[in-house]
Amino acid sequence: MKFTQRVQQLPPYLFVEISRRIAAKRAEGKRVVTFGIGDPDLATPDPVLEELKEASHRRPNHRYPETEGLPEFRQAVAGWYSDRFGVELDPATEVMSLIGAKEGIGHIALGLLEPGDIALQPDPAYPVYNVGTLFSGAEPYWLPLTEEGGWLPDLDAIPDDVARKAQVLWLNYPNNPTGAIAELDYFERAVDFCRKHDIALLHDACYTEVAFDGYRPVSALQVPGAKDVCLEFHSLSKSYNMTGWRIGMAVGNADLVRALFLVKSNLDSGVSQAVQQMGIRAMETSQEEIDERNAHYQARRDKVIEALRGLGITMEPPKASLYVWAPVPEGFTSASFATAVLDDLDMVVTPGTGYGKYGEGYIRLSLTLSDEDLEEGVRRLQSWKVPTPQ
Ligand SMILES: Cc1ncc(COP(=O)(O)O)c(C=O)c1O
Repeated sequence: MKFTQRVQQLPPYLFVEISRRIAAKRAEGKRVVTFGIGDPDLATPDPVLEELKEASHRRPNHRYPETEGLPEFRQAVAGWYSDRFGVELDPATEVMSLIGAKEGIGHIALGLLEPGDIALQPDPAYPVYNVGTLFSGAEPYWLPLTEEGGWLPDLDAIPDDVARKAQVLWLNYPNNPTGAIAELDYFERAVDFCRKHDIALLHDACYTEVAFDGYRPVSALQVPGAKDVCLEFHSLSKSYNMTGWRIGMAVGNADLVRALFLVKSNLDSGVSQAVQQMGIRAMETSQEEIDERNAHYQARRDKVIEALRGLGITMEPPKASLYVWAPVPEGFTSASFATAVLDDLDMVVTPGTGYGKYGEGYIRLSLTLSDEDLEEGVRRLQSWKVPTPQ
């Protein structure tokens, strides 16, 4: 059987390789503690689960959903955006349901990119932006994220001839993997840049509800006029511990929503209506409950940072996201340090290079493991004597 170039050129999906390594360790009888994938260990809120029980008995839910989502789901998303960000959306044309943000992020490329086009993409980044680019035959142009640059792409450094061929600019704040945030003034510059060059601003805002120390992340759509160019991807996965239910939304520019609709309506049949009804219930979760959940992650963040400090690894605590992005000690690479952690401590951390070459020199630790595993991981780090780099 012959596989296409399209799939042959893909790097192995990062967490597939990590899962393989964990399985090998476990087969040796080891207790592996994993700070790898960002998949909340905390339960979906009870009222959301109750909604599923009831929704499963509603006969209309037994049939195909519409691609764009239930009108009441889209209305709830518009209401949520208005309350949370002060952004007004037309539920009929500016909102669409997704089978998780990942699905929409991958599919939008098929509506906007073709061979000869350029996609402006951060490095390091969530790998799916580039998968969409590769599948559509377009070329990525990498925008380095560096500590000195505040982990924000330098838009002024993009050459004019590149900007002319670019169709999309991907941004993601709060950011995976760096935990960085962007403020409204940065999104203002991004909107100006995209408007000037007729580029779609695709903002992945999956982590806006996971924030610490009282910080409230912004939406790119808060920039006046952002809807001229911007489509924002959101997810209920991290906001409400719902990764397993697969629900998210794309909101913003009506033409971009339509492009996504045209792709999706030909490839999938939308989100299960019962799951959309869970989503509606989830978006009614009070801010107090979200704050309580975030306090839980914040306590984990502080413990991990403290343990790393004991190894001489220091960094600014992230204000948002589920990740600690830590520099590796001198003499190590991302990969050699992650390997030393795995070999010596039976612990998984993700090498920064898994997110792009500019991730070199860093590892990512996810805060989504159980408290028990986190305590065990912290204990192992505290008692570790970092080996001399090879
Ligand atoms: C930056 C980013 N975007 C999107 C997603 C996917 O979210 P969803 O579960 O809604 O598909 C993830 C998941 O880890 C992510 O880190």
